[in-house]
Amino acid sequence: MTALPVIIDCDPGKDDAFALFLALALTEVFDVRAVTTVAGNVPVDRTARNARRIVEAAGCPDVPVFAGCARPMLKTLQTAEEAHGHDGLGGAGLPEPLMEPQASHAVTALIGLLDDMTWPTTIIALGPLTNIALVLIARPDLAARIGHLAVMGGTRDRGNVTDFAEFNIHVDPHAADVVLSVAAPVSLVTLDRTRLLRPPEAWIEGMRECGQPGMALASMWREFPVPLHDVAATSMLAWPDLFDFEPCTIRVETRDTPQHGRTIFTRGSGSARIVAAIDREGLFGRLRQAMERYATQAVTVAGTPG
Ligand code: RIB
Ligand code: CA
Repeated sequence: MTALPVIIDCDPGKDDAFALFLALALTEVFDVRAVTTVAGNVPVDRTARNARRIVEAAGCPDVPVFAGCARPMLKTLQTAEEAHGHDGLGGAGLPEPLMEPQASHAVTALIGLLDDMTWPTTIIALGPLTNIALVLIARPDLAARIGHLAVMGGTRDRGNVTDFAEFNIHVDPHAADVVLSVAAPVSLVTLDRTRLLRPPEAWIEGMRECGQPGMALASMWREFPVPLHDVAATSMLAWPDLFDFEPCTIRVETRDTPQHGRTIFTRGSGSARIVAAIDREGLFGRLRQAMERYATQAVTVAGTPG
């Protein structure tokens, strides 16, 4: 099976970091063509710097990283530094990136990549959907070039920002409304499922045996643990046998009401599918196996060249 060409749009962020390490480890599954970053957990200058730190720590310095939108389409930016730390990878201890940032804006890069790909591309979206919304507003024709959009976002029960809204959607509900009403097919894993993916302390501490990426993860989770929200979005493409899906249509509440940013699902039909259940134990076993691929990697301590 040839590896799936993917672009990962993210706001690293601790769980984004884990999702990136996973995708970059599974070389037989994913051909990561680019990483694009967006303002979300922390401002975009930090998410872009973090994405470069992550791809370099994964031993993949050739994966281009593009910085994207610095704020939501209409709202002012709301970050999540209490969970992810001021720099967005609180406690990771990853070295500063050596590679220079790409000159192109992520939206420009996404348009170019989608135009140039000889086949529809999979996009894994792990943060607010601002970059992808601007691509689809500028070039609606590119919706057909997105072969599959895998999203972490929304919730079917209580949110993590308000009672109704999950962070990625709440930060930019207008972008989510644009993307989820145009892109197809969409696979969505929601907060009500991913909040169940809090890694056991011994399990995440065991990641210290998985090279520099694993050490960074263990240190980040020791500082402030978060559920593996974004890891689920990558894993549902890599290991669909661990996930139950059901078809649905998705609507986003964009009006300025207390339910602002809420995702409303109508099950049974539509171009989207939502994760109904995750084999939690099976997933943790696969994740450990995948991260062990970094075990043989030399570990560089923060601040020293590799
Ligand atoms: O609500 C969880 C989502 O918001 C995750 O993607 C996390 O990284 C933050 O972006
Ligand atoms: Ca994220």
